[in-house]
Amino acid sequence: MIQKSRKTYEKKEKISFNTWKKSFKIFNYIKPYKWIYILGLITLLISSVSSIIFPYLLGGLLGVEDQEKGSQFSLMDFNNINSLFALLLILFIIQSIASFFRIYLFGIVTENSLRDIREIVFRKLIGKNITFYDNNKVGELQSRVSSDVSLLTETFNTTLAEFLRQILTIIFGILFIMFISWKLSLIMLAIVPVVAISAVFFGKFIKKISKQAQDQSANSNIVLLESLNGIRNVKSMVNEVFEFNRFKKSTDKLNTLGKTNAIWRGLFAGFIILVMFGSIIFVIWNGMKMVNSNTLTNAEFFQFLLYTVMIAASFGGISSLIGNIQKAVGATERLLEIINSEIEIDIESATIQKTPIFKKSIEFKNVSFHYPNRSDLEILKNINLKIPIGKQTAIVGGSGAGKSTLAQILLRFYEPTNGEILIDNKNYLNYNLSNYRSNISLVPQEIFLFGGSIYENIAYGDVTANEKAVNEAAKMANINEFTDRFEDGMETLVGDRGVQLSGGQKQRIAIARAILRNPSLLILDEATSALDNRTENIVQDALSKLLKNRTSIVIAHRLTTLKDAENILVLSNGEFIENGTHQSLISKKGIYYNLYHSQNKSVDN
Ligand SMILES: Nc1ncnc2c1ncn2[C@@H]1O[C@H](COP(=O)(O)OP(=O)(O)OP(=O)(O)O)[C@@H](O)[C@H]1O
Ligand SMILES: [Mg+2]
Repeated sequence: MIQKSRKTYEKKEKISFNTWKKSFKIFNYIKPYKWIYILGLITLLISSVSSIIFPYLLGGLLGVEDQEKGSQFSLMDFNNINSLFALLLILFIIQSIASFFRIYLFGIVTENSLRDIREIVFRKLIGKNITFYDNNKVGELQSRVSSDVSLLTETFNTTLAEFLRQILTIIFGILFIMFISWKLSLIMLAIVPVVAISAVFFGKFIKKISKQAQDQSANSNIVLLESLNGIRNVKSMVNEVFEFNRFKKSTDKLNTLGKTNAIWRGLFAGFIILVMFGSIIFVIWNGMKMVNSNTLTNAEFFQFLLYTVMIAASFGGISSLIGNIQKAVGATERLLEIINSEIEIDIESATIQKTPIFKKSIEFKNVSFHYPNRSDLEILKNINLKIPIGKQTAIVGGSGAGKSTLAQILLRFYEPTNGEILIDNKNYLNYNLSNYRSNISLVPQEIFLFGGSIYENIAYGDVTANEKAVNEAAKMANINEFTDRFEDGMETLVGDRGVQLSGGQKQRIAIARAILRNPSLLILDEATSALDNRTENIVQDALSKLLKNRTSIVIAHRLTTLKDAENILVLSNGEFIENGTHQSLISKKGIYYNLYHSQNKSVDN
């Protein structure tokens, strides 16, 4: 999985024109704040222009000296050192104020638009269907989104502004040097682009190498996340050494890549310095010749050199900025991919009034199913089935038979690959998804608790419920039996994912959630499997209250719990091979009979 997604990640690094065009859409998120942004651009212009004037005045200082010696220089007519210094001071004041506002204004726009982007990305992610999460690792998604967002933060905050500033510096700088001496300028311009272009090519190569290092670093982060998430499994299997070696292998690789990276970066720096100083010396040599032949004054030459350094620095800066922008385009593309992708539920449509369904009928018609990523494994084969309303239906079958899958299909986590499911005589895909799901309550096989309190975790079943209802649900699920023994009672924190609770305690919280939801259709997937006999009896009590007159699907391994079921379905090889009440199935002496007896025998022993 990591391999696969990494490949697609890399493929996207090649940035086509189309990608650039598409990425431009990210500026839509700046639009609401465009006036602030424009103000920011104005302050940017002011600070850039003032920094461009600076070398001119500095050179002018030399000009004053020249004039005292009787030279011709009087470009700006500043023949007074004091007024020049005063001007310089004013320039600095303007520049410092403009810089403050530039950073502040761009900061506001960036923070606002990135908040919007973060929100929409989360909104999209939470609205994605389960298949998306089957195909994407959460850790990878999380790290990718967070690094992409921080890349964009940097881009909006500094890169774009800096890019504009450098462009302005180059344009104005070239105008100024042309004005000073077009001849020397042409010599200089014949060199700088060569340096710039070779730097860009070299830089691109370096980027490719550092990209590999980035990927590798993401890889080792995934290893870290996986090991720590599964820390209990790691420890129970005494796999610390295995996990460490896995991590070490990946950090070693990162280390090698990082070192190669360092060599090339060093070579790059060396190359740039050599070429840059080489070209500066060359320009100085030519300039000196012109000064000697009196075609250029000392002051002009000094100004020229200052501008040349500025232009060269801007060229150098721009090539690394282009790298940053390219990275940002990649990040933008990935974020836009999430933003523009299909989702199953949008938060707007999710906040609807609950209208009851499952009133008349639940019917499977020729339903077949395989998981989208495992098309060769048919889990359900042409199922035809009617689930009675207001009654209890049980599903039994061996491990991996597809019982939980059936529950997930009913929840519309997955759609049938063939056939249809009719609810109240209407294809279930035609119901509003949020409303549809709000009519169902699933007590899943693997219970996930959020890191809050027991109370909060129960209230999660219906966030609109009041305290009384939550406490009642807790009582019905017999939660008091253990919360009474906790110092903080219902306010006890459950720890990360509920690790501080036992399996049976977690199950009871999940049952309380379901009770609180008061669903039209209740699905229990091994809801009492982690309970001991005594607790199961108590919870069963709560459950039978909950199940009474309610449409329910109960999945269970322990067949003794199913005696009340109206209809028991035996699932095997993707088909329901037997069905009936407990009594009728026992007297049939088929698979169910055998299952029942083998279980009871083991109980007897
Ligand atoms: N997300 C998934 N993607 C692909 N295959 C899956 C996925 N989830 C389950 N499967 C496969 O589908 C089959 C049925 O799994 P399911 O969880 O429905 O079995 P089950 O009857 O609930 O078993 P158990 O009694 O052990 O809970 C299994 O072969 C399983 O490997
Ligand atoms: Mg299951």
